[in-house]
Amino acid sequence: MRDFKNKRVLITGGASGIGKIMARLCLERGAKVIIWDINSEAIEQVLTEFSNYGRIVGYTLDLADANQIKSTVTQVKKEQGIVDVLINNAGIVVGKYFHEHTVDNILNTSAINANAPMLTTLAFLDDMIQQNDGVVCNIASSGGLISNPKMSVYAASKWSLIGWSDSLRLEMKQLNKQVQFTTIMPYYIHTGMFDGVRSKIPILKPEPSALKIIKSIEKGRYMVTLPGYIYRITRLGQAIMPLRLFDWFAGRVLGIYKTMEHFVGRKDTSRPSESE
Ligand SMILES: NC(=O)c1ccc[n+]([C@@H]2O[C@H](COP(=O)([O-])OP(=O)(O)OC[C@H]3O[C@@H](n4cnc5c(N)ncnc54)[C@H](O)[C@@H]3O)[C@@H](O)[C@H]2O)c1
Repeated sequence: MRDFKNKRVLITGGASGIGKIMARLCLERGAKVIIWDINSEAIEQVLTEFSNYGRIVGYTLDLADANQIKSTVTQVKKEQGIVDVLINNAGIVVGKYFHEHTVDNILNTSAINANAPMLTTLAFLDDMIQQNDGVVCNIASSGGLISNPKMSVYAASKWSLIGWSDSLRLEMKQLNKQVQFTTIMPYYIHTGMFDGVRSKIPILKPEPSALKIIKSIEKGRYMVTLPGYIYRITRLGQAIMPLRLFDWFAGRVLGIYKTMEHFVGRKDTSRPSESE
């Protein structure tokens, strides 16, 4: 059982959504929390709101920019010390048919959702390997397990994240290092990121979803879908059904392929939404 007490926990995208809730849950467990976000106003709000819970600091950066990641890592190491738990949570979605994407839409989504977790982990993993202790939790998506219209680039970025994250789990095992890699693949959560989505499968609530992620880290879980049955529906369903049958099941029975039809994304324009 992993313990958060006195651990330094870094959460990317920690200024809103499940990242913000996870920050509070970590503080409640006695962790020292560092949040990274592009939205400096939202960071300030979180620091004000949560300062009574314990020690929390924030850094503003754009995770799409490798140089900003590098300089913020240097600053964090100097000012805060070694990071024990890294939660790669920041993410964006465009929500359009692929042919409607701009080049920037594609590059940004890939940079923030897939490349930033790798670059951030690369910067902190050596310390974890040296102290033979640490956790990297990557917030992917069920969109990384199943194809879905109007989600192609997001799906690509999350498939990438899942493959990379779980390979690192195996690397740590092979190297006999006690560094835990936990990959989380949630279905839609009511945070605002996917506003407008309509779904037959119930959309998840943010608080219990964040709690499940923190508990998955504590329990040392490797691959976690929220809800749990999504893993079996996708991986088992894809394994045993011919593609046409699986398409009927996922598209017609579960209604997944039409969930993004009315997607609007974040209405709050101060947020870095890519949906317009
Ligand atoms: N909400 C869902 O339905 C859902 C479903 C599956 C997976 N996820 C994943 O969970 C994670 C968190 O999602 P959420 O719903 O809490 O989203 P959210 O939009 O509420 O929070 C994301 C945070 O990331 C920050 N961010 C975005 N771009 C950034 C950048 N370039 N640099 C730094 N920070 C940046 C935002 O400012 C925001 O605070 C994401 O990775 C998302 O893909 C969400």
